[in-house]
Amino acid sequence: MIVGKALKDVRENVVIATKLMLHGFSFGNVYQTIRKHLEASMRRLQTDHVDLYYLHRMGGTPVEKVAEAMGRLIDEGLIGGWGLSQVDVDVIDRAQKVTPLTAIQNIYSMVEWDSEAAIIPYCMAHDIGFVPFSPIASGLLSGRITPQTQFENYDDVRNWVPQLSRANIKGNRPIVELLKKYAKMKQATPAQISLAWMLHKYPNVVPIPGSKNRERIVENLNASNVALTDEEFSALEASLNQCRVFGHRGLGGF
Ligand SMILES: NC(=O)c1ccc[n+]([C@@H]2O[C@H](COP(=O)([O-])OP(=O)(O)OC[C@H]3O[C@@H](n4cnc5c(N)ncnc54)[C@H](OP(=O)(O)O)[C@@H]3O)[C@@H](O)[C@H]2O)c1
Repeated sequence: MIVGKALKDVRENVVIATKLMLHGFSFGNVYQTIRKHLEASMRRLQTDHVDLYYLHRMGGTPVEKVAEAMGRLIDEGLIGGWGLSQVDVDVIDRAQKVTPLTAIQNIYSMVEWDSEAAIIPYCMAHDIGFVPFSPIASGLLSGRITPQTQFENYDDVRNWVPQLSRANIKGNRPIVELLKKYAKMKQATPAQISLAWMLHKYPNVVPIPGSKNRERIVENLNASNVALTDEEFSALEASLNQCRVFGHRGLGGF
């Protein structure tokens, strides 16, 4: 509702991406169910179309059924394109064969590389955007988190992210120090370097860092102005490859 209110007067100048979740649903009328979710989202967002509509997680519904429904919604002009989140390459391929995908939103950052093996190459080969979530590892790669950092609210997910345990913050310090070194060299911030790294690495990557703070939103947006040369990128990548990664983000429930 708040987003709808904020975007109402500038709707034509923004791209809206949102998601649905199919809770415990498997073989009913998938199109009708997805359409109902979409209509409710459009009401809240005060818009008559959504530019990019994702399924948040695969549940019991066959991906082919979801792809078929999304294809109908595209044909009806209700969505511009569609995507999947936190899926493997087999699911992507099955979906792609029914209705070509617009974007895949999976976890990806300097400390979460799994998507590099098959998913990002598949997306590149099929002209699919890759949208990394948690691209600065829940703030870890900003260098502003120390083992002493207390996360404010009881509902801040960072209280449960394994990567942000005291031991893992300490273990990942060499990666943060590496980012600080490049930040100094490029007159940027560590968070910007971590985003510039993935922007340099792949042409189809569009990271979505999250922040509730205006200054950090602007800082993260400006990462697109931090251009690494090929030499800088290769040296950074080589040093990164020598670092061990401690912990992971954990995906249970969020
Ligand atoms: N598809 C999925 O399953 C999935 C799962 C999780 C998240 N997401 C989406 O992915 C996006 C971001 O993911 P995320 O929030 O988990 O991780 P993230 O962007 O890696 O990190 C966000 C955290 O880091 C802090 N932060 C952001 N920029 C910073 C900076 N420049 N310096 C210092 N701290 C900074 C933020 O705190 P402040 O707010 O205090 O700045 C926030 O707590 C969100 O849009 C979210 O909706 C998707």
